[in-house]
Amino acid sequence: MRTIAIASDHGGVELRALLARDLAEWGWGVLDLGTDGPASVDYPDFAVKVAGALKSGQAERGLLLCGTGIGISIAANRFVHVRAALVHDAFGARMARQHNDANVLVMGARVIGPEVARDCLKIFLETAFEGGRHAGRVAKLSDNA
Ligand code: RB5
Repeated sequence: MRTIAIASDHGGVELRALLARDLAEWGWGVLDLGTDGPASVDYPDFAVKVAGALKSGQAERGLLLCGTGIGISIAANRFVHVRAALVHDAFGARMARQHNDANVLVMGARVIGPEVARDCLKIFLETAFEGGRHAGRVAKLSDNA
């Protein structure tokens, strides 16, 4: 079973719960790394958890949510093995995979509605990296590591 690690700060708890149900329905193993309630937490701590799950091989993809998606995407992209894409629509979700080989989808739970988020996630999971001219560009993302 393919596994995705998911996490959010307090801003993304409700959307994360909804998307976790979708993921299970779509046949994905879900490694849910919190946060578990509405109490205020720090989004970088949850980016670290998903980055760790990707690094260890516990998960092959990640999903991160915070209020805007901005803070948690910045945090996730500090890790050289993470290519986190902050996405707001289906086009972005598709391009993030086809051109950027993104391994983590990031969305802003206070920005995006649940149906658009669900659409983005499905596309992100089902779209392949195109490789070709994009492969060298993606490789360059790690040049300054
Ligand atoms: C939390 O209030 C909020 O700052 C956080 O979820 C996120 O939007 C940060 O980028």
